[in-house]
Parts: sequence; structure tokens; C-alpha cells
Amino acid sequence: MRQVFITARGGPEKLALREAPDPQPQGDQLRIRVAASGINFADILARKGLYPDAPKLPCVVGYEVSGTVDAAGPQANAAWVGKEVFALTRFGGYADCVCVPQAQAFEKPAALTHAQAATLPVNYLTAWQLLVAMGGLKSGESVLIHNAGGGVGLAAIDIARHFGARIYGTASAAKHEFLKQRGLHAALDYTRGDWLAELMSLTEDRGVELVLDPLGGAHWKKSYRALRATGRLGMFGVSTATASGLPGPLKLLSIGLGMPWFNPVALMNRNRAVFGVNLGHLWHEVGKIRAWMECLLAGVTEGWVRPHVDREFPLAQAGEAQAYIEARRNLGKVVLTI
Ligand SMILES: NC(=O)c1ccc[n+]([C@@H]2O[C@H](COP(=O)([O-])OP(=O)(O)OC[C@H]3O[C@@H](n4cnc5c(N)ncnc54)[C@H](OP(=O)(O)O)[C@@H]3O)[C@@H](O)[C@H]2O)c1
Repeated sequence: MRQVFITARGGPEKLALREAPDPQPQGDQLRIRVAASGINFADILARKGLYPDAPKLPCVVGYEVSGTVDAAGPQANAAWVGKEVFALTRFGGYADCVCVPQAQAFEKPAALTHAQAATLPVNYLTAWQLLVAMGGLKSGESVLIHNAGGGVGLAAIDIARHFGARIYGTASAAKHEFLKQRGLHAALDYTRGDWLAELMSLTEDRGVELVLDPLGGAHWKKSYRALRATGRLGMFGVSTATASGLPGPLKLLSIGLGMPWFNPVALMNRNRAVFGVNLGHLWHEVGKIRAWMECLLAGVTEGWVRPHVDREFPLAQAGEAQAYIEARRNLGKVVLTI
């Protein structure tokens, strides 16, 4: 098989394609011949040495694939063999072949291409956990989605739209028109001006019931200020760590120093809630993951889950694909195809 390794901490040139023998599925694992592999921001953080969950280098990252099962382990259900599936992978997804526990695999809807199916696991499950499972979004509420033009952002727009919410989003100006077509009611350009002042003016100083914030550090303080009474802040990433000019781990230190400390009495008196989401720490809750995915697959059938692939790159061009995202050029998901 062919795998893309992060060979050392650094830029996209640290990614290298290497050959290895095909893996044999163990226990309840399925072996998937990969057709498409989703790229996530965490993969970029891992290459930069900013992702604590990443395996030791050299390593193969990649949290999701879509492809065809060609072998099953001794404890797996052999009926999976030959099926087209998409799956969550606990690393190893940047490859043309990978083994996963069968509980992490789902039958691919026939209506979706492999590239589209590879957008479902991380982006849509994260957005569902933020908006529905933990954010408790209800019809008529309003939500602010930061990084609205990213993979999670587009998934969140689909789900929030389905729940009948009013949707605000921050993104670079060039993405606004597309995001409005996808269902955003108002787009805020955080690169110019103060998005909080704009949001408060748009909401007649009330703020919103839910904020999804993957920016981290001091941004979480600002997002907290955007909440109206009964509001919830969902924190799920530290994108801004990559933008800091500081070297290596100092980037994380600066994020840490800017973070808010939430006072329970203040939360109580202001009727607010804060919560965190890390899908990569839910491997022991696969029952919940499967239930959420069933809802999302119903959304595919009903048409409100609309997987959007911005660009496909060949596996060998994983470095170029990551550089494209780092340059903030992507509008939704970027996928590696075999
Ligand atoms: N906790 C979890 O379980 C979980 C799961 C998935 C993702 N995440 C986090 O959610 C965030 C978004 O992930 P994603 O996969 O949706 O991202 P993505 O598709 O890779 O989107 C990247 C977009 O984010 C914006 N951005 C903001 N700050 C950036 C920076 N410093 N460098 C580059 N781009 C930046 C850019 O758009 P604009 O220029 O328009 O702002 C860029 O196009 C990341 O922080 C990721 O780690 C967390």
C-alpha cells in the first residue's frame, strides 16, 4: 500500500509518500481500499507539532476515509466484504488502504461519491455534537458559526438550517456569497472591523443563543460576550495557534495564556453555559457516534445534509492540499483521492 507520512515537524514538504506491505485486518477490523480520504485542520496542526493527540513521528495521520471493504478480521462480520463504506479512522487515513474496527464503518449512501462520503465523518459529526448533542439548538434560536467557510462550518450551516435557526457566520469576505447561498443569514468579515460589534448591531444588542468557536485562546472570551441569556458557547479548536508568529510550542503557550477562566457563579447569574467538544476523544462512545450518524444519513436521504467537496488532490499531493487549506483558500472540504 501507499501511505503519506509526516516525516518531521515543519511545512508541507515534510509529507512524503512511502510504500508498505498491505495491513491484515485483526480482530473485528475491516480492511478498506481507500478511494477518498478527508483532510482535517488537525492534520496540519499535527505536522506543525501543535496537536497533542498525534502519534509519534514519523506517522500517518488521517481521521476519515471512503472506499470498499476487501477483507474482514476473524471477529468481524464477513458480510461487510465488497461493500462501499465510509469510516472514521484513528489515524492512518492518508493511505490507499487502512484497517478500522467495524463499529467505525458505515455503508456509503449510493447517492454520494466517495469524495462526498469522506466529508461526513469528522465535519458532520463534530457539527452535530456541537449544535445538537451538546448545544441543544432549537428552532427560532440564533447561532454564530466561526470559520463558517471551513469543513465543519459548512456542515454546521446544513444542520442549523435544518433545525430552523437564524445563522450568523464569520469568514473571509470572498466566501460570503457562497455561504449565503448555503443558508447563512448574515456573514461577518472578521478580517476587517469588529465582528462582535457587527453581530450585536444585527441582533439589537441581544447576542445569540449558541456560538461555535474553533479559534481558541482570547477568541473564546470574545465569543462568550456574544451570548444572550440562555446562551451556550461550544469550544472545539485552536485554529489561531497556527497564525501566531511564535516558534513551536510557544504558539500553544500564547493560546493558553489568552484563555478565559469561567466563574460558575457568573455563569449562573448570567444564565450561560460553556462546553467543549473533541471528537477524537470519543472512541469509547461509539454507540453515540453511530446514533448521530444515523440522523445525518437520514439527512442525506432527505436532502438537508449536502456534502460539499471544494477540491480533490491526488494522494501524492497531500502537501499541496494542506498548503491550500493553510492559505485559507478552501471553501469547505478538501479531499485526497486515489
Ligand atoms: N474538536 C473537534 O472534535 C474538532 C473536529 C473538527 C475540527 N475541529 C477544529 O475546527 C476548526 C476548523 O476545522 P475544519 O476542518 O472545518 O477547517 P478547514 O476546513 O480546514 O477550514 C480552514 C478555514 O478556517 C479559517 N481559518 C481560521 N483561522 C485560520 C488559520 N489560522 N489558518 C488557516 N485557516 C484559518 C480559514 O477560513 P477563513 O479565512 O474564511 O476564516 C480556512 O479556510 C479547526 O480548528 C479544527 O482543529 C475540531
